Amino acid sequence: MIKAPEHISALSPYMPGKPIEELERELEIKNPVKLASNENPIGPSPAAVRAITAGLKKTLNRYPDGSGYYLKTALAKKLSVKPEEIILGNGSNELIDIAARTFLAPGDEAVMAHPSFVVYSMAVQAAGGKAIQSPLRDYKHDLDAMLNAVTPKTKMLFIANPNNPTGTMNTKEEFDRLMINIRDGILVVVDEAYYEYVMNAGYADSFKHFRACRNILILRTFSKIYGLAGLRIGYGIAPQEIITEMNKVRPPFNTNSVAQKTAIEALKDKGHIKKSKEINNTGKKYLYKELSSLGIRHVPTEANFIYMPVADSMNIYKNLLHAGVIVRPMGPDAIRVTIGLPEENKRFIKALKELKVKS
Ligand SMILES: Cc1ncc(COP(=O)(O)O)c(C=O)c1O
Repeated sequence: MIKAPEHISALSPYMPGKPIEELERELEIKNPVKLASNENPIGPSPAAVRAITAGLKKTLNRYPDGSGYYLKTALAKKLSVKPEEIILGNGSNELIDIAARTFLAPGDEAVMAHPSFVVYSMAVQAAGGKAIQSPLRDYKHDLDAMLNAVTPKTKMLFIANPNNPTGTMNTKEEFDRLMINIRDGILVVVDEAYYEYVMNAGYADSFKHFRACRNILILRTFSKIYGLAGLRIGYGIAPQEIITEMNKVRPPFNTNSVAQKTAIEALKDKGHIKKSKEINNTGKKYLYKELSSLGIRHVPTEANFIYMPVADSMNIYKNLLHAGVIVRPMGPDAIRVTIGLPEENKRFIKALKELKVKS
């Protein structure tokens, strides 16, 4: 049988949150609650959903506009950038992959935090590069330590801001210091998948460095607050020279016509974003209060999920599944829960109480 090269066979596939249908099938549990993948519990904007139906009727026999002209124009207007400074992806996941395949040659290094979004190391390794992991400090990216991990072989540096799985953010001062001190020739990828949820005024200003024409790629997505994870659409913003190179690697027609049209409508519905933020904020306060009264440690979050350092996370995860609540185990000593609807959060807390979970 044909063998994949060593750098591919050494990889492990991405493990997504358990789908609701799978739990229903496996444990015959009715109406489980999924709090495992940081999705928007109220779903997408109703106006955006109407665009899905319209899109299905008119354009399915045609290839999509591979360049995504109209969505890029709408994003460019909203963000005050040029359409040529935007690239669309089949989720921001694909853009992570395209960036790694565009800028890494075999043996090049990419610095990233640990634990952070696992796709960074997978994409780097699949591109033949070497992932250099720098531990978090107080559950947060230690940007000074990441800078120290840079070597002459470093070509990329990934920052999730806010970080997944810990929900922490880096400040303007920390990020500015990194950008002042990092040498030229390294692409800084700032993954802002959850930036719409951030309420802290000290949040890093990545656009300032984009405008200064630095080597920066800012990633955003319609999968989180926009509630469109199933459609697979995300975008990247970078100086035009960077986008031009990435477009050489981007597969043709990587984003579909329905996703492009729906995303345009979703962008217009500011009320839906406001409502989603409010629900998240209410849920966050409720969970903080309940977790504190249960004596369960939790890391304050800037996103739509909460990281809980707990002993024996796999056991807790499995027991929660039996109670019909899907969360995400994060290694042997933590779980991550997505902030859901009020009734979903209550079910999670009720299940934790019954399991007598302690930190
Ligand atoms: C930090 C981070 N970046 C990117 C993504 C991927 O999002 P998308 O659905 O846009 O591919 C996720 C999804 O969980 C994430 O947590």
